Parts: sequence; C-alpha cells; structure tokens
Amino acid sequence: MKTPIPDLPAHLITPEPVYRARRQLMQLGLASPLLALAGCAGAQDASAPAPTAAASGASGAAPASEELTRFEDATSYNNFYEFGTGKTDPARYAGSLEPAPWSVVVGGEAEVTGTFPLEDLLRITAVQDRTYRLRCVEGWSMVIPWQGLPLGEVLQRFKPNSRAKYVAFTTLADPRQMPGLRYPSIDWPYREGLRMDEAMHPLTLLATGMYGKPLPNQNGAPLRLVVPWKYGFKSIKSIIRIDFTETMPPTSWNMLQPEEYGFYSNVNPDVDHPRWSQRSERRIAGTASKLFAERIPTLPFNGYGEQVAGLYAGMDLRKWY
Ligand code: MTE
Repeated sequence: MKTPIPDLPAHLITPEPVYRARRQLMQLGLASPLLALAGCAGAQDASAPAPTAAASGASGAAPASEELTRFEDATSYNNFYEFGTGKTDPARYAGSLEPAPWSVVVGGEAEVTGTFPLEDLLRITAVQDRTYRLRCVEGWSMVIPWQGLPLGEVLQRFKPNSRAKYVAFTTLADPRQMPGLRYPSIDWPYREGLRMDEAMHPLTLLATGMYGKPLPNQNGAPLRLVVPWKYGFKSIKSIIRIDFTETMPPTSWNMLQPEEYGFYSNVNPDVDHPRWSQRSERRIAGTASKLFAERIPTLPFNGYGEQVAGLYAGMDLRKWY
C-alpha cells in the first residue's frame, strides 16, 4: 500500500561554505536547543572537565576540538565493509554503488507497508541540517554537518502499531555493486536496529546528505542512519529496508562478536571494550599534515546525555552495553 505524500520540497542543497559560515549559529543552538553541539573538552587540556552545552553556547566560541572534520577526510577514511575492510577501500571501490534509482521496503508491525521510491520517502518531511559528532567504537571521531530527515517523522507516516517495539534496518547486499560481499567479514546483509523510543528520538537522523552535497557513496548513499549518541556502527549505510518488529532484531556486530558489541552500543567511557579502553578518542580534525588530533576525553552518550540519558533511566548500562 502506498502512502499519500504531501507535496514538500524533496531536497535542499546548500553549498559547503555556507555550512562553515553557519556553524557558529548552530553551536549557539539557534536552530534548536536540541540540536546544539554539547561542547567537549579542548584537545590541549585533556584533563579539563568538559564545558556544558550552555557554557559553550553562551560564549559562542566552540572549543578547537569541535572544528568540523574536513570533507576530504570524512569521505576518505571510512568503514563500509561492503567495499572492503580497509579505511580507504570505500572511497576507492564505492564508485560501483548505484544510489539512483533507489527504493526502500517498509514492513512489519505498521498499518502502512510497501515499497517506496526514495523520492516519495524524502517528500514526507523537510530536509534539515544537523551537525553531529560521530564516535567510532575504534576510538576516532568526526564532526560532520549532515542533512536529513528526522527518522521519527518519517516512521510516523507508516503508522506503527502497538506491537512495534523496535525498528530494524537493512543495507543493500548486491555483489555486483559491492565487491566486499565476496568476503564473509560480516554475515551479509549488514543489519542494525533501534528500540522504538530511540528511533523516534528527535536527534535520530535519516541522512541524505553531508556538507550540503548528496551523500557520497562511501558514506552510505543515498540514505543512512545517524545516531549521534551511539557508536558509529549503529549508523547503518545505504538502507533498503526498514521493519517494525515486536522483538529485538539481530544486528550485524552483535551477531559477529556478542561480548564486544551489544544491541544498545551507547557511547560510554565507563564501559571498556574488552580489548581497549573507551575513555578517550582522537578527533579526525584534519589538517593537511595530520589526520588525528590529540586525545580528548570521550563523553557519556557522546556528549548528548542531556537529551538522551532519560531513555535509559533505570537500566544498568554495563549490562545493556
Ligand atoms: N553500514 C554498513 N552498511 N556497512 C558498514 O560497514 N560501518 C559502520 C557504519 N555503518 C558500516 C555501516 C561503522 S563501523 C562506522 S564507524 C560508520 O558507518 C562510519 O561512517 P562514515 O564512514 O561515514 O564515517
């Protein structure tokens, strides 16, 4: 069944320099207090307490560590195993991905299900700008200006029923377009999931672009998730399927190494990865000569605790990692 979709502009494209100029406004939280960057300790003084959102917003000056990652770095140092496990493989091999035409199957516990051309999905609500930190479980992080739709607003259109407790996402798995599928590094297709309230949270973004351009293939064209308070692997790329489910859906990294990667995977400096500490991270802050900045402390929920910690009230986050 096809949803009647209101006639709204499908895509807003803003040139990259506009993002740089707009950055200060966004950090002041003028777009919305929810969307403001929450501040982070400066790279020069890793032991200093992190400033609060209000403090960094009030001064208007972002700490050096909150510089945007350079577009060149965000598009050449990637994880997208469908194109190989090396960091430079996605940029090298993702040219074979065909992001158009694209459609998404929506299924499971909802009133409205079916196959929807991407253009119809994008018409559901207006594209927004969101600058978010993304912290990889491996210990590096980026700050990226994304464009996309609030996932919750999109999901609402499909009228999930009362049995819908989780949302499962699936990536395209086409060996013709994705040379990495030859290797069983992951049990393909790549799968991810969120609890319903996480999926509906206003921070959760269904991204269609970055730096004012359509998503590059290596970053998950034409449609990916960005869940800024969770480790980067939850931000599944090149989505072709969204299912509302009653039970917790299987997720790729949890299937592969359940002791290392839980379903929730909230950024948590207090819970070490079994093979390394998660206390600090290196920002891909990018100068021409140096990809990684100095170590900075990792913040609970990646600095978005004020907005999302309530989702986990009463849960033991060591158990539900
Ligand atoms: N999605 C798919 N389909 N395949 C992947 O290998 N890697 C994840 C996530 N989404 C991955 C994926 C990991 S481990 C990270 S850290 C982020 O994408 C990286 O996003 P970026 O390359 O845009 O920085």
